[in-house]
Amino acid sequence: MIALLRKETALALLLTGLVGCGGGEAMDGPPPGPGGPPGNPAIKKIMVKLAKGPQSLTETIGKELNETPPPWETIQTQSKDYVHESGELVKQEPKKGSKESWEKLTAAWLVSAGELDAAAQAKDQAAAKVAHDALKNSCKECHQAHRTMGPPGGPGGPGSGPPPA
Ligand code: HEC
Repeated sequence: MIALLRKETALALLLTGLVGCGGGEAMDGPPPGPGGPPGNPAIKKIMVKLAKGPQSLTETIGKELNETPPPWETIQTQSKDYVHESGELVKQEPKKGSKESWEKLTAAWLVSAGELDAAAQAKDQAAAKVAHDALKNSCKECHQAHRTMGPPGGPGGPGSGPPPA
């Protein structure tokens, strides 16, 4: 019941996000020819914004959620952005791994992002932390299945941040 509601919330958020983001997307020019970089630059860009290093949204929101009280207005803006970027992630095609697996993992990620946003809008610190933990705990599985580059054996790579408390 709750799970169903959450899924619908995430979907609704995704749809609003998609409608709200026409234009503004910079064109990167033609893709590199054969022998170009191994990864998917669009996925990389989303990862950098969401998850790479202390400036990333995941890290920033994590720190803010530990404040008392958390700066909700800032978090609310960031969590919306998070959902938007996660919606973009769903649409990408990874260089490695099956489409089914990508759909499953990105859908789960998007649901957690939606939960984080819903909790932020409701100013529910406990629920926001649960959703944030779920996001932080899903890095490794997806990287093992779909990430082509990065240090061997490094789950999140450098900048994946401190382990969840
Ligand atoms: C749904 C799948 C998925 C999830 C979840 C995911 N990643 Fe990634 N991540 C990828 C893929 C695919 C790449 C490789 C992108 C490419 O092709 O260059 C990547 C690349 C990265 C990179 C390298 C970026 C660069 O500059 O090259 C970092 C850092 C990273 N992820 C951190 C994280 C962290 C931290 C989390 C969890 C909070 C996370 N990722 C969750 C799929 C995922």
